[in-house]
Amino acid sequence: MNILVSGGAGFIGSHACFELLDAGHDIIVFDNYYNSSPEALANVEELTGKSFKIYECDMLDRASIEKIFEENTIDAVIHFAGYKAVGESVAKPLMYYNNNITGTVILLETMAKYNVKKIVFSSSATVYGVPETVPINESFPLGVTNPYGRTKLMIEDILRDVCVSDKDWSVVILRYFNPVGAHASSKLRENPKGIPNNLMPRLIQAAKGEVEYLTVFGDDYPTRDGTGVRDYIHVVDLAKGHVKAIDYIADNKGAIEINLGTGNGCSVLELIKTFEKVNGVTVPHKIVERRPGDVAECYADPSLAKELLGWSAVLGLEEMCRDSWRAVMYEA
Ligand code: UD1
Repeated sequence: MNILVSGGAGFIGSHACFELLDAGHDIIVFDNYYNSSPEALANVEELTGKSFKIYECDMLDRASIEKIFEENTIDAVIHFAGYKAVGESVAKPLMYYNNNITGTVILLETMAKYNVKKIVFSSSATVYGVPETVPINESFPLGVTNPYGRTKLMIEDILRDVCVSDKDWSVVILRYFNPVGAHASSKLRENPKGIPNNLMPRLIQAAKGEVEYLTVFGDDYPTRDGTGVRDYIHVVDLAKGHVKAIDYIADNKGAIEINLGTGNGCSVLELIKTFEKVNGVTVPHKIVERRPGDVAECYADPSLAKELLGWSAVLGLEEMCRDSWRAVMYEA
């Protein structure tokens, strides 16, 4: 298929571009490089030996989005583009609503205009809010606690409404748990601009000595060692899930939500220990107060992905820690 990838230069987007090309699809990418750089796409071309059209454009720029649809035959869209930092979204909610929501509406309107009605959307486990139990399956109640999460949930709702209004649409909403790791070549990796928020990039800063220590947010949660439990998933597994989702939308109409996680919970201290063991480094860390808004435990029931997509994660925590570190060292 010819697949338009929005936000294809980002961490998950660039890995998905690699896997799509590797599976024999053709891609067209657009990105505004707000939180990414063209280098990732150049590396995808180098790794696959395939070239593809890249548009530097913003999804709020309707004329530029239309031009992409005018100039290409597109069968389906994978929509990664969007702002994603929780703290920033609390400080700048309107920026988040304008970019993520308005941008998506422009993209969907343009898709409808050009009769492209297949989309895979990059959602997040954040839409489950504070889950009452774990593992979390797709029918759990939804609830969000910050503007970033609200944009994900609103886009999910918009997509479900579009499917109700027009039965020709095919929508797969992928709810990611906690993506980490990097491509085995080390040429694709997470490279957040500014101060990272998520655990793995912060753990790496501490391992490199860029910060004195990693702050562990709370050790008094009702978990096996008191620290927060999450479902870390290797970005390569996650990217492969998108190829499976593209296969699925080729044959199915309507909207479906699917978790992409491993189903295994891992605590902050367990992640630190595994990282230290696998990479032979020390991660200085210090327990501090809980981070407001954090939940104790969040991990997936990934059985629907297996059933509908024939997908399940194969890479474990050791590979995640090894590949994350190797990619950072490769760069250095
Ligand atoms: C966070 C976001 C979530 C978003 C997801 C993916 C919050 C409250 N939630 O989820 O909305 O979808 O990232 O981008 O920001 N931790 C530390 N020290 C750190 C950083 C994190 O101990 O310096 C702990 C956290 O308390 C948590 C775990 O590590 O237990 C994972 O944190 P993080 O990587 O930020 O992911 P989430 O909190 O799951």
